[in-house]
Amino acid sequence: MLEELLHLQETAVKKILATRKLRLLEDLRVRYLGRKSQLRQIMSTLGDLPADQRPQIGQAAGSAQKAIKFALSKQLDLIREAEESGSRIDVTLPGRAPISGTFHPLAKLSNELTDIFRGMGFELFDGPETEDEYHNFDALNTPKDHPARDLHDTFYLKDGGLLRTHTSTVQIRLMENRPPPIRMISLGRCYRKETVDATHHFAFHQMEGLFVDRNVSFADLKGTIECMGRQLLGSKTRVRFRSHFFPFTEPSVEYDFSCSICSNATRKSCRICKGTGWIEIAGAGMVDPAVFESVGYDPENYTGFAFGMGLERIAMIRYGIDDVRLFLENDLRFIRQFSDS
Ligand code: PHE
Repeated sequence: MLEELLHLQETAVKKILATRKLRLLEDLRVRYLGRKSQLRQIMSTLGDLPADQRPQIGQAAGSAQKAIKFALSKQLDLIREAEESGSRIDVTLPGRAPISGTFHPLAKLSNELTDIFRGMGFELFDGPETEDEYHNFDALNTPKDHPARDLHDTFYLKDGGLLRTHTSTVQIRLMENRPPPIRMISLGRCYRKETVDATHHFAFHQMEGLFVDRNVSFADLKGTIECMGRQLLGSKTRVRFRSHFFPFTEPSVEYDFSCSICSNATRKSCRICKGTGWIEIAGAGMVDPAVFESVGYDPENYTGFAFGMGLERIAMIRYGIDDVRLFLENDLRFIRQFSDS
C-alpha cells in the first residue's frame, strides 16, 4: 500500500507538471484528488487497516495529497502566466506605419504657384464660386450683349446667379474693397458648360493674378510671367506672347512656354507640345480702363496687368497626365501616385 501511494504521487505530479492546458489540469485534479480518486479511496479505508500500519499509511496518503495539491497550484500559476504573456503586446514586432494622405496634384500645383507668387510679393485671395452677372461679366467689361459672353457657356442658377466661369471675379471683389496698389492672386474652381472629354471638363481650376499700381507696364507683365515659367518648368523656359482678345484687358495676349519636355528641340513625337516646341498656357493683358472705372479706380493714375491660366493644363504638362477627367474622379490609385515619399 505504501508503494502504491508513492507511485501514485509520483505519476500524478509528473503528469501535472507536464500539462500546459487549464482544462487538462482540471481533469488531473479530479482524477487524483476527486471523490472517486484512488487517493480518496485509500483514505476512506484507513480505518479498516491494522492499527500498526494506520499511522504510516495515513501519513503517506496525507503527504501524497499535499504534493499533488502543491504541483497543481504551481502548474496553475505557470499556465496562467504563460497565457497572460501570450496576449501581451510584443514590443519587438516591427511597427505599422500610419497611412498618410497625399496632396491632390492640383493642390500640389496650387501650393507651388502660391509660393512662386508670394516670393514676388503677391497676396492670395479667395472668392465665392456662385457669383452674380455683375462680378463675372459686367464689371469685367463684358455687358449682356457682348459677344464674348457666348464663349463662356455659363451655368445659370434659378435665383439669377451663376457659377463663376473664371476667377477674375475675385479681382473685382478685391478692387471694390481696397484702393491700389494691389498685387494679388486667386485660385479656385470655375465652371463652364463643356462636353466632358479627355481635354475638357465642366469643372476646372484657374489661377489669376492682378498687379495694379502707378506706371505698371507690359514689361512688368512679361517679367512676371517669365519668372513664373522658369520656376515652374525650369530655368531655361522661354515665353512667347501672341496677341489676342479679352474684354477686360487691352492689349491682350495669349502666352506660351517653351516645351520643357523636348527642351524646345521640337521633336515631332513630343506628346506635350506636339512638335511645335511651345505649350499654350493662358491669357493675360493690361487691365482695360473700363474695368478700373467700374471699381472706382482712376485709370488716369493707375495701370495694371492681369493674367490667368488653367491649372489642369499645367498639371497635365507637369505630371504627364493625359486625361483631364482624372482630376475630378478622386480615384485613390491616381492620387496616391503624387505622394512625396
Ligand atoms: N479670365 C480669363 C479667362 O478665363 C483669363 C484671363 C485672365 C485673361 C486675366 C486675361 C487676363 O479666359
